[in-house]
Amino acid sequence: MRTLELAGVNVPVIGQGTWRMGEDPSQHTREVAALRLGIELGMTLIDTAEMYAEGGAEKVVGEAIEGIRDQVFLVSKVYPHNASRKGIPQACERSLRRLKTDYIDLYLLHWRGQYPLEETVEAFERLREEGKIGRWGVSNFDVDDLQELASPACATNQVLYNLEERGIEFDLLPWCHQHHQPVMAYCPIGQGGQLLAHPALKQIAARHGVSPAQVALAWILRTPDVIAIPKAVRTEHVQLNAQAAQLRLEDEDLKALDQAFHAPQRKQRLAMV
Ligand SMILES: NC(=O)c1ccc[n+]([C@@H]2O[C@H](COP(=O)([O-])OP(=O)(O)OC[C@H]3O[C@@H](n4cnc5c(N)ncnc54)[C@H](OP(=O)(O)O)[C@@H]3O)[C@@H](O)[C@H]2O)c1
Repeated sequence: MRTLELAGVNVPVIGQGTWRMGEDPSQHTREVAALRLGIELGMTLIDTAEMYAEGGAEKVVGEAIEGIRDQVFLVSKVYPHNASRKGIPQACERSLRRLKTDYIDLYLLHWRGQYPLEETVEAFERLREEGKIGRWGVSNFDVDDLQELASPACATNQVLYNLEERGIEFDLLPWCHQHHQPVMAYCPIGQGGQLLAHPALKQIAARHGVSPAQVALAWILRTPDVIAIPKAVRTEHVQLNAQAAQLRLEDEDLKALDQAFHAPQRKQRLAMV
């Protein structure tokens, strides 16, 4: 799988999301197996958060990476209400315990909250010095937030990006590119919803003999410096997502997608879920 440099490490351009994992104990074994399969297929970047199932998703990840921790690039996120000088180290310790590891490769502020950015950054930097995290970054930050943060130490910004939500192409993507900050695209296949039934997507998928979700992922990967983190539990989905890295869309595909899903012509407020 193609890789790019994130936080000084080569990571695959398609990783695995974990939102909604860890919520239903009857799905635990399937979820662990899905992540393990994804790792085997090269999707060794795993994105999680203390928020997901209130720690439940991190526990699923912890089990999935047991014995293969060194093969995985682990991303987790701290709640904004824990992002204080005192709260961050405690939240990180809890995450580490659930993940059954002694370091997180990349630790993100999930979205902006009540604590000053300088305080959060200071706490992140301390964790880095202690070796508890490799690097830190942010999520759901718009250009003005990144300008205020003004830190070259910030390794990434994780934001909503898919064919239906292209707002970041106007200003955020160019800004991040200019500042050598890879972007992590969340909900890359529109949460498996109506996007996948769109006729334009289905037509292109049929032409290439692939699935609409694979087209949606390949479309995201047309941009250098963007990593997609689809979440999948069904075995078939995991396999298709890993294979999507091989798909190259042609100019006529990209034109058809631009006609069906317009690129932004002016600044749009950062979309979030
Ligand atoms: N930073 C943030 O604020 C933020 C917000 C949202 C999400 N995220 C992260 O981004 C990840 C991805 O976003 P998401 O989970 O919301 O949405 P998503 O990855 O766009 O979609 C996940 C849904 O699509 C289905 N799916 C997966 N692969 C498929 C395929 N090849 N064909 C058809 N359907 C497929 C999944 O089904 P099955 O599971 O049944 O296979 C699941 O229902 C999250 O899991 C999370 O790690 C971050």
